[in-house]
Amino acid sequence: MTFIFAHRGSAGTHPENTMEAFLQAERAGADGIELDVQLSKDGEIVVIHDETVNRTTSGKGFVKDFTLAELQNLDVRDRFGVAGKLRIPALKEVFGWLKTNRLLCNIELKTAKISYPSIEEKTVALIKAYQLEERVIFSSFNHYSIIHCYRLAPEIEIAPLYSEMLFMPWVYAKSIRAGGIHPRLVTTSDQIIQTAMENGIAVRPYTVNTEKDMRRLFEIGCTAIITDYPEMAERIRKEYE
Ligand code: G3P
Ligand code: MG
Repeated sequence: MTFIFAHRGSAGTHPENTMEAFLQAERAGADGIELDVQLSKDGEIVVIHDETVNRTTSGKGFVKDFTLAELQNLDVRDRFGVAGKLRIPALKEVFGWLKTNRLLCNIELKTAKISYPSIEEKTVALIKAYQLEERVIFSSFNHYSIIHCYRLAPEIEIAPLYSEMLFMPWVYAKSIRAGGIHPRLVTTSDQIIQTAMENGIAVRPYTVNTEKDMRRLFEIGCTAIITDYPEMAERIRKEYE
């Protein structure tokens, strides 16, 4: 069975990377969530996609220039009409909630544009404190960052993110001891997915948002999909059970 990872929570139906989006992923029947992390001024791991707060909140400026308390004072923008005040979550809040369910968590380290001091050490320490090693997958477009995580905690799976057409990505994945690859959907073919899986590498393409692509990946038994629409994916997946 292909697993469903809810991208930034359930970004197609709820404000991305908020607790409300993660709760929706659970309600929708997803197997896991994908979220993005950056570091605040006071060294807290926070869940937000961009390096700045400009697009998704009422504030302006770089995440790294706000303390956690300041970040959590900002209002997260909502185009979906979700009730109540929406806040940027700290990763530890998401972990507290993960302890109440069995969901997997793909943590994408946003270290490709800004290098956050010790974000890998801090994230690994938090995963260990919550004993979530077996439920976390690290990914990043900065492959040095996930290799760093592997050196700190080889028991936690790492998976490189990439958006270009790599040649034999399973060979590369094995060379860095990754358990999976997270390719951009358009750079994968059924052949690449199947060969990677035959070579023991999990394949979780992003972002799989159309019914056609979901069906194609369910039919070939792709390891997982990362989607903004976990509810739709779950409805379609049921047809293949
Ligand atoms: O992890 C998959 C996907 O989230 C990577 O791209 O920009 O949505 O974080 P982005
Ligand atoms: Mg992401």
